[in-house]
This record gives sequence, C-alpha cells and structure tokens, in this order.
Amino acid sequence: MKRIAIFASGSGTNTEVIIHHFKADTSGEVVLIVSNKVENRVVSRAQNHNIPYHILDRVVFTEGRGLLDVLDKHKVTFIVLAGFMWLIPGYLTDTFQGRIINIHPALLPKYGGKGMYGMHVHRAVLEAKEVESGITIHHVNENYDEGQIIFQATCQVHASDTPESLAKKIHALEHEHYANVIAGL
Ligand code: GAR
Repeated sequence: MKRIAIFASGSGTNTEVIIHHFKADTSGEVVLIVSNKVENRVVSRAQNHNIPYHILDRVVFTEGRGLLDVLDKHKVTFIVLAGFMWLIPGYLTDTFQGRIINIHPALLPKYGGKGMYGMHVHRAVLEAKEVESGITIHHVNENYDEGQIIFQATCQVHASDTPESLAKKIHALEHEHYANVIAGL
C-alpha cells in the first residue's frame, strides 16, 4: 500500500479528489499534506479530513534535509505533486527515485518549465492558438516538467475559450485521471 504525501499550494481541488479516491481504494492512503503556505485551501482541506500537514520554509526545503525526517515520521513511500510550484531538490528526487509524480496542465514537452504554471500555461496555449491542450502526469526529476511522461489526456481548445474556461476543462481532466494513475503505479 502506498503511503502518499501530497505537496500542494493552490486551491487544492486535486488534493481533495485524491484524498476521496483513497478513502475507497485501499491501494493507497493519503497520510500527509505538505504545503508552502499556512493560509490556504489545502491546509483547511487537510484539517477537514484529519490528515496531518506540514508547512515548508523555502530555505530549509531547498538547502536542508529536515523534510526527510518529517516524511520518515509519517512513513511516506510516495509523493504526489498537485499544484506545487517549487522546484524539487536533489535530496528528495534521490531518496524517492521513481516515487515522485507531478501533474502539469498542458501537453508536455510544450508549455512546461520555470514560470509555466496554472493560468500562465492556459494563457500561453491560447496565445499560440492551439486547437488542443490537455494534462500530463510525469515522474519528477530536478528540472521543472522534464521527468518521464506517464500519462496524457487531451481536450479541444476553441477560439471562444478564455484562460478560465480552459482551466475548467483541464481541471475536469485532472480530476478524472490523476488518482487512477497514482493507483496504477
Ligand atoms: C492544476 O491545474 C495543476 O495542473 C497545476 O496547478 C493546478 C492546481 O490546481 N500545476 C501546475 O501548473 C504545475 N506546473 P488545484 O490546486 O485545484 O489542485
């Protein structure tokens, strides 16, 4: 059984779906939420589900290794990034080789890399007049959005789409697929 830590800093809708999924699916359990902000939706979601959470300090996260003790304490075996925006340091990718995955709101290798997150991605897709976008679930290495791709799903982009309407389609795809892909690994 996977003991999952979700790293998230946004609104946490993927976090919520994954928590719910693994209440019914015994192949995994969400045992810890890790975030970089105290005041956010992710932390309140963790509290609502009585899941422990840990708030990161950027310098300690990047330069120290204290987080490994926290993950060890909760016996975490698998890390899921769901709207987590900081680069994952080498000590984590080394310790959790092949056991850290991320979801990206576009079809990598396009529209990835530093600064490409959330609405920035959707705006770039629309500016480039793409007719298709989608989601990419991939392994995490030390570079933004460059790890091996595990799964992609697509949606159409229409001329009438706005960044907000595209975000809605992408979120629907993420909610449909992310937990199932995690369960299958
Ligand atoms: C998701 O769309 C995810 O793909 C994106 O942040 C959103 C978080 O939504 N991640 C990135 O852009 C990473 N580069 P949520 O907080 O509602 O789960």
